[in-house]
Amino acid sequence: MNKITIAPSILSADPLDFGSAVDMIENSGADWIHVDVMDGHFVPNLSFGLPFIKALKGRTSLPLDVHIMISNPDERAAAYLEAGADYLTFHVEAAKDPRNIIKLIREKGRRAGLALNPATHFQTIAPYCESVDLLLFMSVNPGYSGQEFMPVVFEKLEEFKAWSHGKELDHLFVAVDGGVSVKNIGKLTGRGANSFVSGSFFFKARDKRKIVDELRLAAVEESE
Ligand code: DX5
Ligand code: ZN
Repeated sequence: MNKITIAPSILSADPLDFGSAVDMIENSGADWIHVDVMDGHFVPNLSFGLPFIKALKGRTSLPLDVHIMISNPDERAAAYLEAGADYLTFHVEAAKDPRNIIKLIREKGRRAGLALNPATHFQTIAPYCESVDLLLFMSVNPGYSGQEFMPVVFEKLEEFKAWSHGKELDHLFVAVDGGVSVKNIGKLTGRGANSFVSGSFFFKARDKRKIVDELRLAAVEESE
């Protein structure tokens, strides 16, 4: 299994001070920077675009874990790769041809991620699980940080676990995004998750290094 990966979401940072947010994430011992791209169409909110991703890329050596909550990933994926996404995760609900997007991402030598919303059935992503690097199980309806964790994700993870039994999928990052905290992370690792986005929980904490250590510890302890 992959080691536990923690990806703070820069969406939860002070919008007037993203430079400091990058420093905070780098100094915290977290693994990736999660970048939530919202188009005001697939989700109601608007957030970051290509110039922001390019600027981040120039500023940090941490991998950029770009989560595109956009209506037209088939047409736009290439631009996000060009901007510097190391991991590019798109939504199965929005994609016309997920296989083609996955192919494009991997041809560029980047890692492909597939996301599904809380209301989307696991079977929707099952046909693609063996061709991606990362699955992103949403535990909130995408659009905003700071929302309440939706326990329906537990069932999804269990379905995935049952489905993946006996398959060679140890390389997969099984990620959970939305409302993750020390309260639920152990229950998530216990159901097979190994990668976590943390927005408000990370940015609200005074001591970022401590909170990352606590998340890693809770992930291991409670899953046993
Ligand atoms: C929701 C985003 C999440 C969110 C996480 O649309 O995809 O990545 O920013 O923030 P928290 O951890 O506060 O739910
Ligand atoms: Zn996200």
